[in-house]
Amino acid sequence: MAPRWVKRLMRIAGYGILVVTVLAALAITFTIGWRPVIGAKVRSLTTKKFDSTAGRRQRGEYLVKGVVGCLYCHSNFDEKSDNPVLLSKEGAGRMFAERGKYRLVIPNITSDPETGIGRWSDDAIARAIREGVSADGRVLFPIMPYEAFRYLADEDLAAVVIYIRSLEPARSALPKTKLPFTLSRLIYSLPQPVTGSVPQPDTFTPARQGEYLTRISFCAVCHTPESPPPIVKPIRGMEMAGGNTFGDVASANLTPDASGIGYYDEALFIEVMRTGHVKARKLKGPMPWRVYRNMTDEDLKAVFAYLRTLKPVLHRVDNAEPPTQCRLCGKKHGLGDRN
Ligand code: HEC
Ligand code: HEC
Repeated sequence: MAPRWVKRLMRIAGYGILVVTVLAALAITFTIGWRPVIGAKVRSLTTKKFDSTAGRRQRGEYLVKGVVGCLYCHSNFDEKSDNPVLLSKEGAGRMFAERGKYRLVIPNITSDPETGIGRWSDDAIARAIREGVSADGRVLFPIMPYEAFRYLADEDLAAVVIYIRSLEPARSALPKTKLPFTLSRLIYSLPQPVTGSVPQPDTFTPARQGEYLTRISFCAVCHTPESPPPIVKPIRGMEMAGGNTFGDVASANLTPDASGIGYYDEALFIEVMRTGHVKARKLKGPMPWRVYRNMTDEDLKAVFAYLRTLKPVLHRVDNAEPPTQCRLCGKKHGLGDRN
């Protein structure tokens, strides 16, 4: 018979393990859920087809070039130049990051049947855009902004698919993305099937229209600060308040607070989005103004009207100052120590 102290130890260890397992289970359920273990939520593909109409082609081109920015990511540009020049055909894809045996590839989305998505059904393309699942069921890394695109209205989704299909096919064979384990599983919690219909928002109030455009042009992906890894989530109460860092550049606070863009008027906003300059200051980093500059005045005004309805958040971010630790967003950025 085992001595008493061994039994006691085993009981404590038993409870300990139980408690830890229960806590871990709760933590998993409330944070990332069980998807990394049991697999992503993926709906089956349908045979739905989108009719190609002149109206859809035109709307699709407008959205792709000015709002949803597909070709900005999926094309290979010479990024060093001030005026990026295309290095291969539009939509031909590119290697985004590579380190050892891991890599993140932005795929070829032209209609080339072998190296692009020429053989994909309309619904497979639609599912990749709004739900983040590739035709073969693979979960896409969320740099592809499907969490923002899930708000794309059905008609706009059809327009985008029709336009993407009309791109000139490019032969461009790229390897597949390969992520390290755990990261490759953590993303299983992201896909959310869109099974109901997503209606076009009403265009009656500019702010409502602006909210829609702001969502699908994924401003929040960069402008809403996120909690640190491993469970990266937008920080509640800091919507669009800036602070996410890209190298030595942090995203700006876009709320109407004085520390944000409270001093902007509509004309200045349009000028910034069209020129990439705030007066004499040139915007750095990944701010995709070269996409948004193609939005109509009406749509840019709507985006601005929506930004004006945001809760003002006091959060100083200034890229002209040396980076310091910020207790509000947890990142290091200019004027961080003043928050
Ligand atoms: C911010 C960059 C970015 C934008 C904008 C973007 N994508 Fe992507 N897209 C990606 C990345 C990165 C992947 C690959 C992710 C992976 O391999 O896990 C991807 C994957 C895809 C795939 C899957 C292809 C395959 O072979 O698996 C399709 C289809 C696609 N994107 C279409 C689009 C369309 C259409 C748009 C515009 C509505 C768009 N993307 C906008 C970055 C982007
Ligand atoms: C891929 C990331 C990214 C996306 C997407 C993005 N931004 Fe930005 N944005 C930035 C960064 C980074 C800066 C800071 C650049 C700097 O200070 O040089 C910035 C700066 C700005 C500024 C200038 C603020 C100022 O006065 O300093 C405005 C305005 C702005 N963004 C609006 C938007 C809007 C509106 C959207 C969506 C339609 C958007 N951004 C989408 C990264 C992004």
